[in-house]
Amino acid sequence: MIHKNFIGNQWVGAAAGETVPVVDPSNGQAYAEIARSRRVDIDAAVSAARAAYAGAWGRMAPAARSRLLWRIAAALLDRGDELARIESRDTGKPLRQAKADAAAVARYFEFYAGAVDKLHGETIPYPRDFTVFTVREPHGVTGHIIPWNYPLQIFGRSVGAALAAGNACVVKPAEDACLSLLELAEIAAGVGLPEGALNVCTGLGPEAGADLAAHPGIDHISFTGSPTTGRAVAQAAAAHFAPVTLELGGKSPQIVFSDADIDAALPVLLGAIVQNAGQTCSAGSRLLVQRAIYSDLLGRLGELFEATRTGPASDDPDCGPLINARQLARVRRFLEEAEESPITVVAQGKLDNSAPAAGFYQPPVLLGNVPPAHRLAQEEVFGPVLAAIPFETEAGAIAIANATPFGLVAGIWTQDGGRQMRLARAVRAGQVFVNNYGAGGGVELPFGGTGHSGFGREKGFEAMYGFTTLKTVAIRHGSS
Ligand code: NAI
Ligand code: MG
Repeated sequence: MIHKNFIGNQWVGAAAGETVPVVDPSNGQAYAEIARSRRVDIDAAVSAARAAYAGAWGRMAPAARSRLLWRIAAALLDRGDELARIESRDTGKPLRQAKADAAAVARYFEFYAGAVDKLHGETIPYPRDFTVFTVREPHGVTGHIIPWNYPLQIFGRSVGAALAAGNACVVKPAEDACLSLLELAEIAAGVGLPEGALNVCTGLGPEAGADLAAHPGIDHISFTGSPTTGRAVAQAAAAHFAPVTLELGGKSPQIVFSDADIDAALPVLLGAIVQNAGQTCSAGSRLLVQRAIYSDLLGRLGELFEATRTGPASDDPDCGPLINARQLARVRRFLEEAEESPITVVAQGKLDNSAPAAGFYQPPVLLGNVPPAHRLAQEEVFGPVLAAIPFETEAGAIAIANATPFGLVAGIWTQDGGRQMRLARAVRAGQVFVNNYGAGGGVELPFGGTGHSGFGREKGFEAMYGFTTLKTVAIRHGSS
């Protein structure tokens, strides 16, 4: 089957008729095709969005917009199992993770539906002969470049907030994972989203993605992906002064002190790196452990790694395949570098017999004694590889935690209240979790990074501000 673009609430093939294969990472087989969009197709989507913004969508009252987003949320809940099956096959993620993602995208639409009519401006105290107020207005047409690791969730946090703020959207999903978002666009149209408010164009990053970022008809770009591509997107957007939100991943530390509740920490430490086969921007990929408990904790965590099941997504294993052959080769290169260093392989998961040989599998790996300056402690692997590093003191833990160019998320495990507060303030990160990690998704919690992790905030109410531009109105009316 050939999946077309969704533009102006219609299915439209790429003008040149080109396509890209859709591959199932669990068996390496192509099973469908998507449109390979070029500039002319992106032009058509941007025109449709501009017309929507100037027309029915742009003029809709906030309360009506809110009702529409509620209807989308309800439809997404109804169709959650179907979206999860599509997502699981396309990305290779275990079915229960895909179900959680489908539930999350509905939750984003619920949250932002409720926020639409609460996006207030302010009045500003000024001399008596003036009244001054601010209005939060949409940017206009927003571009969304979505990665392949969590298409549904990242669509929810980005497009949900942008639509709520009143923008019309053009979405470019990753070439490796488009199908759930095409389905979602049709669902939104089916419950009444006006034509052109939401357009999805598939294609290759350096073609359709680059054309979208460079398009002068785009007023804001949000991007999630690699730092290298993020830089290119920001440069393209700078040519026409479009603001950007960049979420570029991390090397997020989990810091475990000797007084921590280890029983509570262990399953969370495992989940934070095995979830989605480690292909998570906020994966807890560095494990900093205080020396006194280092070997005990690694021994117990190693047993959990060895008990993990890796296999095809439809079997709902702990760890599915990686997204494609390139990502598998990238992860394997990192592991080869570990072999040529003092780093030890503490434990490894096993591959199920049911896993097809042509799938892109890498069972979870726990690495010990990783030098803090080693690439494995500095760079995003984006696979199920956890780098453990011992530390001695609180100051030492902070120094190691902050010694990467990233700053996305940090986890702190200690029962000492003062230490919890000191660490929460001292680590460089956009989100800090104490005695938990990820807070179960956190639709309501502002999320984003610092340094090479990017800038701007998504999720929560904060994301709504990012999708607006602030206008100040000063009226001189004289005084009575
Ligand atoms: P990427 O950053 O190249 O791809 C992300 C998105 O950008 C995709 O939609 C892609 O089509 C698009 N894109 C690619 N080149 C583009 C360009 N020149 N202009 C505009 N858009 C473009 O990431 P890739 O190559 O798939 O993965 C490489 C590494 O990136 C991973 O190993 C991982 O470390 C990181 N990554 C991080 C993610 C995160 O959630 N922070 C998500 C995906 C990848
Ligand atoms: Mg795929």
